[in-house]
Amino acid sequence: MVDPHPAGSDADIHYLFPDDTEFPMTSNPMTRKILVTSALPYANGSIHLGHMIEHIQTDIWVRFQKMRGHDCHYVCADDTHGTPIMLRAQSEGITPEELIARVHEEHLRDFRGFHIAHDCYHSTHAPENLAMVHDVYRKLRDAGLIESRTIEQYYDDSRAMFLPDRFIKGQCPRCGAADQYGDNCEVCGATYSPTDLINPVSALSGTPPVRKESEHYFFRLGECAEFLQQWTRSGTLQKEAANKLDEWFAAGLQNWDISRDAPYFGFEIPDAPGKYFYVWLDAPVGYMGSSLRLARERNLDFDAWWQPGHDTELHHFIGKDILYFHALFWPAMLHAAGYRTPTGLHVHGFVTVNGAKMSKSRGTFITAASYLDSQLNPEWLRYYFASKLNGSMEDIDLNLADFVARVNSDLVGKFVNIASRTAGFISKRFGGRLADSLPDLDLLNEMRHAATSIADSYENLDTSRAVRDIMRLADLANQYVNDCKPWDIARQEGQDAALLEVCSVSLNLFRLLALYLKPILPRLAEDVEHFLDIPPLGWQDANSQLTGHVIRPYQHLMTRVEQSRVDAMLAANAAATRPADTPATTPAAAPVTPASAPHAAGDAETISVDDFARVDLRIARIVNAEHVEGAEKLIRLTLDIGEEKPRNVFAGIKSAYDPASLVGRLTVMVANLAPRKMKFGISEGMVLAASGDGPGLFILSPDDGARPGMRVK
Ligand code: 2FM
Ligand code: ZN
Repeated sequence: MVDPHPAGSDADIHYLFPDDTEFPMTSNPMTRKILVTSALPYANGSIHLGHMIEHIQTDIWVRFQKMRGHDCHYVCADDTHGTPIMLRAQSEGITPEELIARVHEEHLRDFRGFHIAHDCYHSTHAPENLAMVHDVYRKLRDAGLIESRTIEQYYDDSRAMFLPDRFIKGQCPRCGAADQYGDNCEVCGATYSPTDLINPVSALSGTPPVRKESEHYFFRLGECAEFLQQWTRSGTLQKEAANKLDEWFAAGLQNWDISRDAPYFGFEIPDAPGKYFYVWLDAPVGYMGSSLRLARERNLDFDAWWQPGHDTELHHFIGKDILYFHALFWPAMLHAAGYRTPTGLHVHGFVTVNGAKMSKSRGTFITAASYLDSQLNPEWLRYYFASKLNGSMEDIDLNLADFVARVNSDLVGKFVNIASRTAGFISKRFGGRLADSLPDLDLLNEMRHAATSIADSYENLDTSRAVRDIMRLADLANQYVNDCKPWDIARQEGQDAALLEVCSVSLNLFRLLALYLKPILPRLAEDVEHFLDIPPLGWQDANSQLTGHVIRPYQHLMTRVEQSRVDAMLAANAAATRPADTPATTPAAAPVTPASAPHAAGDAETISVDDFARVDLRIARIVNAEHVEGAEKLIRLTLDIGEEKPRNVFAGIKSAYDPASLVGRLTVMVANLAPRKMKFGISEGMVLAASGDGPGLFILSPDDGARPGMRVK
């Protein structure tokens, strides 16, 4: 167990409530044993914002648990097996082992760069994982849950290999769109099997594939339906996830194909030469493999994490795209193999940038390395994501203008400001020594008592609420400094005691804010601990205050975000053509350009006239405008563009306009934007507005004479 209070570390820290065991602990004062995982990133691509949101969310939760004194361990690994990795290695002229070793280093460097503190970051291509995969498989087989059957699949004769669905392209059987993958159509959204595609070709060789039979192994998921239905209702899942599962139960559970034919980079199935475990079987078992490695490294109890009957918790953090694997296959496998099932599955949404899907050509497919290379502080992103995550499956938008504004206003303008305005007086006038006692102020009490509700927010993954509460307290602390005006007191004769008191109170408020922010901003908290010359802050330090204690001279703790660095990062991503950025699902060695292939460098800055012509810009009359209850930024607009039915559009312009002032006005809208489902309803387009680095938003209006429905060209 981590001991946040090494013996003898609290000489100058005075505990306010020595006998009060209830405050500020939450309901469970016992040490919990917790194993936590993030989904395993594929070993053939760079770490990007989609990975970062998950690792940041997990890391905040883990750091919080550790600060509470719980026995919490965080494991992850690279997901190293499968056809894309095998082909990427081939295309680079190296072995898969060389590829995954190189990528492992890159991933580790990126995660360390963002202060993600895995206790073990391992690999699925490791002896520990092999042992666990064999163990789980044999138990499933002995329980009668593995069956084999011959199936027919597409085979590329010229490459002598069976083709995974994503490596076959052809015409969509439903809408006829060309160049669609073998599993779904990106144009009409249909899902189908590759054998349904019209005129299929191999994405590897461009030749038509042939059908070929092969024996495959299946996990009999259908046998586990009853168990899964009961597990789904056990409180392990968010409501949205449980609803999704109900849809899948209603559709019926299919047995799951867990084998692949050679050539394949993976683990061979013990009793089936030439057959390999499908990557999605050994990936989640990688959670066990990684924790086995950790247990061996640190002499910890592996069985307590994985055998049933222990009071240990197991928490998985994942994105919503891999819910099926984690909420059906994984618990079914664990249960059927006699292992414990997860305590919690914490599912987050996708990251969007400036309101849209991440896009390579716009430079918004942001890699972790590009962020760090642009000299952007990782804690800014940690803070921004934390301010948005609320434990739901909603998508999280990184709005870059909001990112700059929020970090500068909250962290620099509010938090750091408290120390920078008061610490100098302590150093210069009092030899760095804080007052021997503090007055009994409501503000200090309120700040301390907030420990309980902020802890609840962290526990429930509602970091957005935690951040809101902490910043409200930071506002109060700043208000205290403003009201007391230490700079005025400092100029008055005989007011030393008052000055010492105000600055000591301020720095105690600051210390508590640093404590509350520590799971999100571990490096900044460390710098604060150094500045205050105190041991690492644990959660129960909210019980104490710092008095009669000598602090170090204040040094600036955080700089402002410069827009120019954000711009540099976008430019770097737009220009990047590194093959390692190709999404894992895109065939690495494919000569056939995937429909969604990123634009090559060079055409990223411009679009063609045809591209522009695809945007249907129309003059719209705002026939109604109203506030949206519960929305911070939105106004609901009803727009007449000369169609029978007016359009409903949610516009983020509340900061700039009173809805009543908009009614009757003409503006410009994008009329052919795909409808977007938002929390408050469907948005059927977008109005155009100008904005710059500073405040202010200006919706566009045509000259007199324009009429609703006119095209803007
Ligand atoms: O979707 C992905 O990126 C997978 N590599 C996640 C695997 S998570 C777990 F099952 F290993
Ligand atoms: Zn289609």
